[in-house]
Parts: sequence; structure tokens; C-alpha cells
Amino acid sequence: MSMSRFSVGFIDVLWGFLAFCFLAAFCAHKIFAQKPNRYTTSGVYVLFQDLIRYGKTKQSIKREKWLRVFDVPKRWFWHFYAVSVCWNGFLLVLTLNSLFYNQSYPSWLTAVLDRLTGVPSSHGQVPQPSALLVQTLLCIHSLRRLLECLFVSVFSGGAMHLVQYLFGLCYYVVLGLTALCSDCAEQGRDAQLAELNFLHLTGLVLFLGASKLQHQSIALLARLRTGRSGSIETLDHKVPKGGWFELVSCPHYFAELLIYVSLSLVGGGVSLTMWLVVLYVLFNQALAGQLCHELYISKYDSYPKHRRAFIPYLL
Ligand SMILES: NC(=O)c1ccc[n+]([C@@H]2O[C@H](COP(=O)([O-])OP(=O)(O)OC[C@H]3O[C@@H](n4cnc5c(N)ncnc54)[C@H](OP(=O)(O)O)[C@@H]3O)[C@@H](O)[C@H]2O)c1
Repeated sequence: MSMSRFSVGFIDVLWGFLAFCFLAAFCAHKIFAQKPNRYTTSGVYVLFQDLIRYGKTKQSIKREKWLRVFDVPKRWFWHFYAVSVCWNGFLLVLTLNSLFYNQSYPSWLTAVLDRLTGVPSSHGQVPQPSALLVQTLLCIHSLRRLLECLFVSVFSGGAMHLVQYLFGLCYYVVLGLTALCSDCAEQGRDAQLAELNFLHLTGLVLFLGASKLQHQSIALLARLRTGRSGSIETLDHKVPKGGWFELVSCPHYFAELLIYVSLSLVGGGVSLTMWLVVLYVLFNQALAGQLCHELYISKYDSYPKHRRAFIPYLL
């Protein structure tokens, strides 16, 4: 399964494009924020805000009735992870079959991967162990998030746009395929495996630490709404306290970024495709974190001034 380290396929263009879109949205939001009165009433501005916001940050914009037709409950977030567990679990089984029973991927999957990478028949060989590791971690991450959505998080009546919902459903399908596309091994396999040992370990440690941080942050948010017995007492949005919330408004977004960095490291750290995914997550979470941070600052007078949006001491 070889692919030139720096060859650019459709999948790279796709992730690069998505990263660019979120960077552009982040910059556009910042520019609009400089001149609030000039744009806030225009239809394009409201549509833009409707498409970039979800949950609590969506509640602050005044939308026409017709725009609310596209609202989908934010509590449906678990659908994304359910799709991810099923799809990425299925791809993991195919990879295990390929590694241990020498069964090649089905021809339809090979055709899809060839199209995405632009390298014909590049997936006829045995997958690399690092690809197996990335797929396993992706499944673990999705399963944890699914369980958190179903049993830890307390959702209010927040909404997301139908486009965001459909995007979220497709996202984890494409991500699973991306993990297979980035399975590159253009160098001697022994040399690469020796090189990978350190990266595997670093990536694994980072994955565990970031997952722990994300879970703790999600649990802290849930505790803002539950009493000691675990029963729901309020659905209000409160000022988060404790843990990494003392440093940033959205430590769970920072953890998400670290999780994707860890996946890239575990995958060998040399896949352009995986780093483009990291770039996409950086800009995606930067935008969501910025919107959340702005909301907290505008809503709570006593909101701690030293807190950053999502990267400690930086952003
Ligand atoms: N990889 C990606 O592209 C991507 C994209 C988006 C999200 N994510 C990840 O998905 C996870 C969830 O993201 P999210 O944007 O849904 O996080 P979020 O808005 O912080 O919501 C997480 C949970 O906490 C509740 N909550 C939020 N702020 C609260 C407050 N001030 N007081 C009380 N409860 C509060 C939310 O309830 P309500 O919102 O229902 O009120 C929800 O149940 C994050 O870890 C994020 O990194 C990943």
C-alpha cells in the first residue's frame, strides 16, 4: 500500500479546501465583528451566522422564521458518533482481515480509495500496522464520544443547521476513508517501522491524555446542570469552572485538536493528508471556540479576563 509521501490526491484537496473554508469563516467573523452595526441586519450576514453557529452560540442571533425551518436538535450529535462507530468499525474489520487473513479490501472500497488518493490500485497490498492503530483509535474515540453524548452530557434545546447535521454525518465516513488513504509506506518497511516506534508511543500517550482531558471537560460541563445525585436541575448555560476551564473557555475543543495530532503521529507523522485533517480541526475548533468565548464574555460580566478561547495562553 504505497503512496508518494507528498503526492496530492483528491482527498488532500478536499481537506485543504475544508480547512481553508473554516479559516475564511473565522476571518470573516472577525471582520464582521469589527463593524457590527453595518452588517448585522443584512440577510447574507444572518445566513452566514446561522451556518457557522450551533447550540448556545446560535441563540444570540436574530433569525427570520424561515431560517428556523432548517434547525435540527443539537442533541442529535450522537448520530455522528453512531455512524462513526458502525462505519469505522466495519473498515477496521476489513483491515484486520487484510492483515491477518490476507483478504484484500473489497473492489468497491479499493476503487473509492484509488479515486481519493489518485494512485491506481495502491490499496491492493497489505495495510501497515500504523493504519490499523489509527483506525482502532478512531473507533475508540467515536465510541467514547457516543457514550458521553448518550450518558454524560446534558443537552438543552439548542439547535444546529441541517447543513451542519448532514456535514457531521458525512464527516466520519470520509475520515475513516482518509485513515486508509494516508496509509503510506513508500520507504523500506523495516526502516519505517523502527522509525515509527517512537511516534506510535508519543501519539498513543497524547491520545490517552487528550481523551482524558476531553472527557473531564465534558463531565464538568454536565455537572453545571446536575445536582449531587446526578439529577438534572437546570438547562441554563453557566460559567464553567475547574480543570482546564481555568485556562480556556473550551478545553474540550483543545483536546479534540490534540486527539487529531495524536492520530497523525500514530499514523507515522509523515502523511500530508492527516496533517491537513489536523489543520481542518484547528480552524473548525478555533471558530467554534471563538464564538463560545465571545458569548461567555458578553453574557457574564465577571468572566475571567485571562481565559483564552481554546488554546491555553495562545488563542
Ligand atoms: N471534529 C470536529 O469537526 C468537531 C466538530 C464539532 C464538535 N466536535 C467535538 O464535539 C464535542 C462537543 O462539541 P460541542 O460544540 O457540542 O460542545 P459544547 O457546545 O460545549 O456542548 C457540550 C455539552 O455541554 C453543554 N454545555 C455547553 N456549554 C455549557 C454551559 N456553559 N453550561 C452548561 N452546559 C453547557 C451542551 O449543552 P447544550 O449545547 O445543549 O446547551 C452539551 O451538552 C467537543 O469535544 C468538540 O471538540 C468536534
